[in-house]
Amino acid sequence: MAWRSDCALRKAAATKVTAKTEEARPFLKWAGGKRQLLPILRRFYPSRFARYWEPFLGSAAVFFDLQARGLLDGRSAILSDTNADLIGCYASIRDRLDEVLAELTALAQGHATRGAAHYYDIRDTRFNVERRARTGHASSLAAMFIYLNRTGYNGLFRLNAQGEFNVPAGRYPKPRICDTDNLQRVSLALRQPSVTLERQPFERVMDDARAGDFIYFDPPYAPLTRTARFTAYTAEGFTHEDQQTLRQMMMALATRGCSVVLSNSTAQEIVELYGRDKDVAAAGLRCHTVPARRAINSNAKGRGPVNEYVITNVVP
Ligand SMILES: C[S@@+](CC[C@H](N)C(=O)[O-])C[C@H]1O[C@@H](n2cnc3c(N)ncnc32)[C@H](O)[C@@H]1O
Repeated sequence: MAWRSDCALRKAAATKVTAKTEEARPFLKWAGGKRQLLPILRRFYPSRFARYWEPFLGSAAVFFDLQARGLLDGRSAILSDTNADLIGCYASIRDRLDEVLAELTALAQGHATRGAAHYYDIRDTRFNVERRARTGHASSLAAMFIYLNRTGYNGLFRLNAQGEFNVPAGRYPKPRICDTDNLQRVSLALRQPSVTLERQPFERVMDDARAGDFIYFDPPYAPLTRTARFTAYTAEGFTHEDQQTLRQMMMALATRGCSVVLSNSTAQEIVELYGRDKDVAAAGLRCHTVPARRAINSNAKGRGPVNEYVITNVVP
């Protein structure tokens, strides 16, 4: 298989991401969020497709981008992730926006007065307690999820062995906690009857995707080094076996006639899975190596330019 370092893709990477202000955009900071990579990913949006699937939703950068460009008009979008807090948050914004906004405004006020002390109070005496007991109102959990994301260290979502959220407070002098206008636009976008939101593992796509559908896979990155595994997103983590399953799915879905796009790191594990396998090439998949900037890295020095892989059967 040819690993391409395409000059046009490099140029696209240098293009600034400009969002139309009236469109919904990601409201969460998310490890591996794809806002920076949109100029490149747009080149792999198929010109025609039936339904859109995004089974590793995170902050939904690609969904919001497709929506802003009118590419989802008249099409179904099936959005999913295994992170229950994340999907619960989206569902509350869709169904109970006013309650979420009221809670979030109160949290922002508390933070303005007490800063990190308020963050730890909310994290330890409310968020983790209500998550564990499952007693919390969905809207209050959603507001706390957004608050902790906007004010916690690097926007990470990390759970300890007991399944408790344990990210320390970030050091932001004036964090933007409640962007009411954007959350209203997000709520509207999610309320479209054509948009489905589900908590489910990525494998479920295999059951229902049909020829002509477009699927964007953005799994947790395979770590570039042993010490680089900075976040797990979920208590289960994402194993090498999961990456292997995903590879099998990519080949099967491409053979089924779906348009598939997958982004991942340039870790050796991924090169070996896709780059040195003739079955992958026979399924019509090609690998493009593209420049990217990692938005979240526990080591600040690691936030510079790095390469990333895009594996796809869409011709850019
Ligand atoms: C790299 S992030 C996706 C980032 C997203 N594209 C964005 O722009 O923010 C990977 C996501 O996969 C989710 N995830 C982890 N394991 C999963 C699984 N087995 N099935 C589905 N989603 C999973 C994580 O919760 C996380 O949100």
